[in-house]
Parts: sequence; C-alpha cells; structure tokens
Amino acid sequence: MVHLAPKALQHRKGTFTDVPPELLKEVKNLESQFYVNGDKLREIVDHFVGELDKGLSKEGGNIPMIPGWVMEYPTGKETGDYLAIDLGGTNLRVVLVRLGGNRDFDTTQCKFQLPDHLRTGKSEDLWVFIAECLKNFVDEVFPDGCKETLPLGFTFSYPASQEKINQGILQRWTKGWSIDGVEGKDVVPMLQEAIEKVGVSIDVVALINDTTGTLVASMYTDPEAKLGLIFGTGVNGAYFDVVKDIPKLEGKCPQDILPDSPMAINCEYGSFDNEKLILPRTKYDVRIDEESPRRGQQTFEKMNSGYYLGEILRFILLELAEEKHLIFKGQDLTNLKKPFIMDTSFPSKIEEDPFENLSEVAELFESKLGITTTVPERKVIRKIAELVGERSARLSVCGIAAICKKRGYKTAHCAADGSVYNKYPGFKIRAAKSLRDIFQWGDDIKQDPIVIVPAEDGSGVGAAIIAALTEKRLKDGKSVGLKNA
Ligand code: GLC
Repeated sequence: MVHLAPKALQHRKGTFTDVPPELLKEVKNLESQFYVNGDKLREIVDHFVGELDKGLSKEGGNIPMIPGWVMEYPTGKETGDYLAIDLGGTNLRVVLVRLGGNRDFDTTQCKFQLPDHLRTGKSEDLWVFIAECLKNFVDEVFPDGCKETLPLGFTFSYPASQEKINQGILQRWTKGWSIDGVEGKDVVPMLQEAIEKVGVSIDVVALINDTTGTLVASMYTDPEAKLGLIFGTGVNGAYFDVVKDIPKLEGKCPQDILPDSPMAINCEYGSFDNEKLILPRTKYDVRIDEESPRRGQQTFEKMNSGYYLGEILRFILLELAEEKHLIFKGQDLTNLKKPFIMDTSFPSKIEEDPFENLSEVAELFESKLGITTTVPERKVIRKIAELVGERSARLSVCGIAAICKKRGYKTAHCAADGSVYNKYPGFKIRAAKSLRDIFQWGDDIKQDPIVIVPAEDGSGVGAAIIAALTEKRLKDGKSVGLKNA
C-alpha cells in the first residue's frame, strides 16, 4: 500500500471583515500564542530525544520508557483463540481474536460504555465491572460454554511499570482517571481476582500498553511499521529498542534475554517536559494543569491530546465572554462554565462545519450551551478551534520525530490510532505537514520518508498476538521479565 501524505491544508472560505477590531486583536494575540513554528518544533524535538535517552538511563527521567517484555516480532504464524480487553479512556472493548496462522485473523467484539462514575469511583467497582462485561461476552460468543481457559491480553493504557509481562504497577492515573487504591499496585491480580469472583475461566497472560499493541499489530501486516502511536484521549508512542541499549536493564535480565534481543518500549511520553523547560505553554495550559486531578504531570499530553482540546477552547471562550466582554454579550454562560462540557467532538464539529455562515456551529452552541451566536462570533470560534487543533497536531508529532531521530530511522511507517487521529478534521494533514517542517524534506521529494499510517487494531489483534507470543515463550521455558520477577 502506498501512503501519500497530503501536501496542503484546505483553505477556509470567509473573511474577518465583520469581526470587531478589539475581538480581532484578541484572535491575533491567540494566534501568536498557539502557532508553533518549525524552528521551535525542531528545538522541542532535540530536547525530546535527550529526554527519551534519560528515560532509558539508570537514573531515569521524566519520560518513563517502560520495557514491555515483548521480545520478538510477530511471525504471522501465531494461532489460537485469544481474548483481548482494552480499558481505554471512555470505553471498555472486549474482543475475541482468532489468529489463523497465515498472517490472518478474525475478530468478534463488543464495546461497553464505561459509566462516568467509574473513572473516579472505587477500585473494586472497576474490576468487577470489567469482569462482568467479560463474562457476558464469553457467554454470548461461546453459548455452549468454552472448554479451555481463555488466555487474555489486557490493554491497559496508563503508565504501568512492568517487571514482567503479566504485571502492571500503575504509576499514576492519567486522562482524568482517579481511583483510590490502585496507584502503586499491580492491576493484574486485581482483575484476575474479579474474574474469578464472577466465575469465568480466563487467564490474564499479558498486560499491554495500547501503543505497544498498535505497534505489534501493525508490524504483523506491515514490515515497514516501526512506531505504534496513539493520538486519542491521551498521546503516547511505542517502538522496539535493543536490550543492550537500555542501560536501566543492565545486569537485571535473565540469561536467556540476550543483549541483542529486541524489546518493545512504551515511552509514556505524555509526560514529556514535566519540568516545563521547552514547551510553549499558554496560560490556558497552566489552568488545565491547575484544575486537573494530577497537577504537574502529563505536561505534553495536556497540551495536545483529545481529552483537553475542548477544555482549552472553553477556557479561551470564557475569557473572551466573561472577562473581556467581547463575545456572547448578555447571554447566560452557566453551561459554558461547566468543566469539560465541551468534549473533543465540540472543536471537531466546529472545524467540520461546511456552511459559510457556520450554521452547524450556531446549532451546536444553541443546543449544547444555550448560547445564541452571531456570524462574526462563530468565525472567531472556528478560528480558535483551528488554532488549538493545529497546535495539537504540530506538537504531537514531535514524539514521532524524536523516536525516529533517536533510532536513526530515515524511513518509517508510523502506525497511528486514536480518536484524534481517526476523527479530528485536518489532523492527518496537519501532522504530515508538521513532520515535513521538522525534517525539512523539501517539496521535490515524491513521498515523505517518514509517514503516519493508519494502524491495525492494536488493543484487539495486537494484544492477542502479544498474548500468543508470551504463551509460546513460556512454553519454550523462556523468561518474560526481570530476574526473579
Ligand atoms: C496516556 C496513558 C498511556 C496511553 C496514552 C494513549 O498517555 O498514560 O499509557 O498509551 O494515554 O492512550
């Protein structure tokens, strides 16, 4: 498959002649705060490379760089039935994957919406909810019962340390989750216990980050795939390093894990620049952080992942309306004042509105916020959404560029998934353009050497393949973790 990255952004129609000068001045000011030029991107990438290295060092750094204990590439010959679950930001997905052994697979899946209260509720409620969903699913796909214990790959998309593959010690919740009693603990036994409680025969074989799953699933079908990326509620990337180049593993691996063995690394680079040295943070980013349950963490993620885009837009609109009295004059702002009322679908819909008078934006603000807007206000809203969306794309590819630079990849398919990548209008074009700005490839080349491509299903197929690879290693008597883990 050839992936040609689009070369130019679409031009929007419409002028700002009807926007009052004071409001226009604010827009210009926002533009200068949110636009990140090529020089700055390159500066960020260089700093990023150093931070990736620090994360692999014995001393450690801000970016966790977690070895994922996936130590071989898929062959495509893996076979068997595997369950996979993905505890993402908003849904729980349960998948039955049948690996066919010929680079082929079949999947049957079901999505369960995670009730909002679970994100900040009691630990036990979460695990029982997941176990019950699993039981419902298994009962449905195996109506006559399943004779054997089903191996399960658990995609847990939070920073979790792993001394072995069937372990995940949650370092800290991200993406707005905050459940007491889980941080610092291994989530695998918690899930396994709940599974036993609801009475279904499942063995949690491997815990996988969504980026690692994405990487492995994509390598299964695309030999050029070198990075697994998520641009969604959170942002993160995974790649394969080599054991001898990971100083923090020195002397800690069992003998059968050789220095030249590949090792999947879940970077957890959402925490890039927690020291706040390089990213061009605005006062809105500062406020996002101050109002978040985990202050000071995930600095990079808070500037560009889907979870925060609508909230950044909301802060800006509130400032223009409430403090500066430049928009929504005389309107009831009660709804606009509600935190996170504008999820990512908001800026997404705003950017997508095809009508010149932005009538869909008008309808959105009317129905969801109870605010009547004028045409100039809507143009300004759209412009701000573009600024926030474009900054998100430009910053988020810095992670890609940094990994490629670190590993010396001159060409790569960077397999991406996540709601922002898949659904946010213009993201793909903007991201490709930003990589071009970083690497300065010039217009004469026919195809960008480093391209972002749509990933295979990481948390389903990827998790299943990793579970299969793990079972095989164990059967062959090989290690799947640190010495004595
Ligand atoms: C957050 C999580 C990380 C995950 C990413 C994308 O950054 O900490 O584990 O990969 O979101 O879902």
